[in-house]
Amino acid sequence: MKFTIPLPLQNEHEALHERLRRATQAGGEVGEAAKTLAQLMHPHFIKEDEFALPPLGLLAALARGEWSAEMAEVLTLTDQLEAELPQMLAEHEGIVAALKTLRDAASRTGRSDIVAFAEPLTEHARTEEEVMYPAAVLVGQLVRQRLGQRVPAAA
Ligand SMILES: [Fe+2]
Ligand SMILES: [Fe+2]
Repeated sequence: MKFTIPLPLQNEHEALHERLRRATQAGGEVGEAAKTLAQLMHPHFIKEDEFALPPLGLLAALARGEWSAEMAEVLTLTDQLEAELPQMLAEHEGIVAALKTLRDAASRTGRSDIVAFAEPLTEHARTEEEVMYPAAVLVGQLVRQRLGQRVPAAA
């Protein structure tokens, strides 16, 4: 079964990617700071696209009480998310720190557009930590419950 990241989240990721890509072309210390940030974000985004966010594609169906046996395939993704969650949260800390460096450089050089990009990206990380990742973990726990298996103790 294919699990598709809800479209608004896909669009948000693409928009953040695009703004970051433009910032890397700024040149000077702003461009360098944006490249450092991009290097941290790229592998992180891949993990989100591969296993952290696709389980959210089941949220609406599960909330409607729908069930199909192939939904159990999502456990491969949610187990991986639970295992890698501490690492992903640590990556957010690195990203937010690199973002602060970028914002400071952009502020010094009058790039208010790039300064303005820092806030939504920081909010994005917080939303993932407090809403998206926990929701994806809950998708896995619910699917496991419906399969009649024991939910493992929270890590
Ligand atoms: Fe993200
Ligand atoms: Fe993230």
